[in-house]
Amino acid sequence: MVAFPTETVYGLGANALDERAIERIFAAKGRPATSPLIVHCASIEVARGLAKVWSAEAERLASHFWPGPLTLVVPKQDVIPGRVTAGLPTVGLRVPRHPVALALLAAAGVPIAAPSANRFMGLSPTQSAHVLPSLADMILEGGPSDVGIESTVVSLAGPPTLLRPGMIPLDELERVLGSPLASAAVPPEDGAHASPGLHPQHYSPVTPLSLGQTPATGRGVWLRISRDGLASEQIQMPTEPAHYAQRLYEVLHRLDHQGWDWIAVESPPATGEWDGIRDRLERARHN
Ligand code: TXA
Ligand code: MG
Repeated sequence: MVAFPTETVYGLGANALDERAIERIFAAKGRPATSPLIVHCASIEVARGLAKVWSAEAERLASHFWPGPLTLVVPKQDVIPGRVTAGLPTVGLRVPRHPVALALLAAAGVPIAAPSANRFMGLSPTQSAHVLPSLADMILEGGPSDVGIESTVVSLAGPPTLLRPGMIPLDELERVLGSPLASAAVPPEDGAHASPGLHPQHYSPVTPLSLGQTPATGRGVWLRISRDGLASEQIQMPTEPAHYAQRLYEVLHRLDHQGWDWIAVESPPATGEWDGIRDRLERARHN
């Protein structure tokens, strides 16, 4: 089991075709068996071979966005153990673009199933130092992740549906797809989730995080986007979404170790380019 860098966040990877290796990932993360894992592939050819149905839409999205921060959910081939997909007949596939991830996939010669390399519900790691050493047999160094939040997840198992927003703009996805994307509803509480990223709470620091307001009591720190009246114990976050995403988890990991009573985050602008960031903050909030 190897923790390795990707351009989105660090993953905790094992041979996607080996059921026992997959068991270890679930056990190490404390992840419920109902949450399917993303299978990382060395190339689009490998991904095609793992899909039972590879549609024209899949081909368009994959050839445009891979290698890159997009996961495609497609009907799976039997070679993928049901354990990987939480018993679902579909599998999430992605060709990452980080050179260390691609080198690992090439060396392994098998697809690698990998969730983010954190305990279930915790903050995803964007640096090797964020990965708990006890989680993996080995941690590969790849520097800070340059996208900074998890991949955009699109299901092509039915009508094309956005399961989890990321840093790829919706209009770019729809332009390449040639049709509008439906948006996923929040799944039921039990059974395999269509997308576990849709758990209402996820990606949280331990320190209570509030969005859009500062709690009235206790000592905290405020993550600001706007530049007016920046005071001490406030952190100026990048005003550009790509840079904001790149820094977000690093800042939250750091603050989480500083003993604050709360972390407050200024609400990001209500525009599409902030969708992925807003999604993660909504799930991280405790208020
Ligand atoms: O950027 C990323 O996606 C990172 C890196 C390591 O690739 N991985 C990641 O994995 O965030 P994880 O396990 O934390 O999140 C898995 C996501 C779920 O939220 C879900 O949307 C999707 O993958 N997923 C995987 N398999 C699926 C399936 N068969 N059907 C629907 N969604 C699936
Ligand atoms: Mg995760």
